[in-house]
Amino acid sequence: MTFWEKAIEDAAVKTKQNIERFNGLFPHVSNGDEVYELNDNNEWTNGFWCGILWLCYEYTGDETFKKAAERSVQSFGVRLARNRELDHHDIGFLYSLSAKAQWMIERDEKAKEIALGAADVLLKRWRPKGGYIQAWGSEGHPENGGRIIIDCLLNLPLLYWAGEQTGNPVYRDVAVKHTEKSRRFLVRGDDSTYHTFYFNPENGEAIRGGTHQGYTDGSVWTRGQAWGIYGFALSYRYTGNVKYLETAKRLAKFFAERIPEDGVVYWDFDAPVRPGIERDSSASAIAACGMLEIVGHLNDGDPDMELIRKAALWSVESLAERHSTIDQPDAQGLIKHGSYSVRIGHAPDDYTIWGDYYYLEALMRLAKGHKGYWYE
Ligand code: GLY
Repeated sequence: MTFWEKAIEDAAVKTKQNIERFNGLFPHVSNGDEVYELNDNNEWTNGFWCGILWLCYEYTGDETFKKAAERSVQSFGVRLARNRELDHHDIGFLYSLSAKAQWMIERDEKAKEIALGAADVLLKRWRPKGGYIQAWGSEGHPENGGRIIIDCLLNLPLLYWAGEQTGNPVYRDVAVKHTEKSRRFLVRGDDSTYHTFYFNPENGEAIRGGTHQGYTDGSVWTRGQAWGIYGFALSYRYTGNVKYLETAKRLAKFFAERIPEDGVVYWDFDAPVRPGIERDSSASAIAACGMLEIVGHLNDGDPDMELIRKAALWSVESLAERHSTIDQPDAQGLIKHGSYSVRIGHAPDDYTIWGDYYYLEALMRLAKGHKGYWYE
């Protein structure tokens, strides 16, 4: 058994224990006590648990995972039907890893219908006058009405996929326009990224970049950079537009050149490094998946290939060797030292269910050539 496979086996054992523990509820983050906070499918993070279940099912073939995943997808169907906590852009995170994943694995028509319904909900956040997908809040909201955030790039695959499934060009058109807007305004000249950007919602005029979870408005929040790496790579995968691959590569190089000695990034590349500085293991896991995706598109002679490939491998190796719970059989989380928001002290050094998901996706990419559930 390879090193990667051993890590996956450990994740599968823990996930099976968690199915019992969580009893149909969804894990979000731990908050200082190594115990996951649970909810009944009302957070932006609920798809990640479902994605973990599907990955474990695909790796082990064990029906326990499949049953638990199908049960969660049903819950996502109810959430959609009741339009519950869907007034935000994270619909892609929620439904790509739940209903769309079920469609990919089982060709279940009901799951496909749920995923397509979710894509329609996401489409409603398109603001034609501003030319972007509004991240948070209701239309016309004084602060959020004109705001985009870099995380949204991971929501776009649901739109691209819906376009492919339905033949309706509107989904792809919106996804491409939002990718363009993000590329132009969220990516800075030095290949770092803003977390968020504000526009005049009436005419799309650019106002300013800023942050929500980063150290300062002008700093580089590591998870934001990671969302950018993977997000642009996925837009390339769907569109074949080499500009997006180039952008993903530039962002990946910026990240790779700033990984600290022990292989897992701190929470913000500009936060002063002091003893005990918080890390964000989830950023390393997301970036690793993005970098592995990028590497799959590069030719052998590409001058950036080695840097990006090594950074991806080193990140996953470091997560598994030094930041995982492999030596803690009763742990709930798969990787430690994720941070939700260091800025406001919310789960600053904790388990994050998205970090666990991307860690497992990265392992599955390395061990099995699996690609996650973002595209078919
Ligand atoms: N998408 C929210 C976050 O990364 O915290």
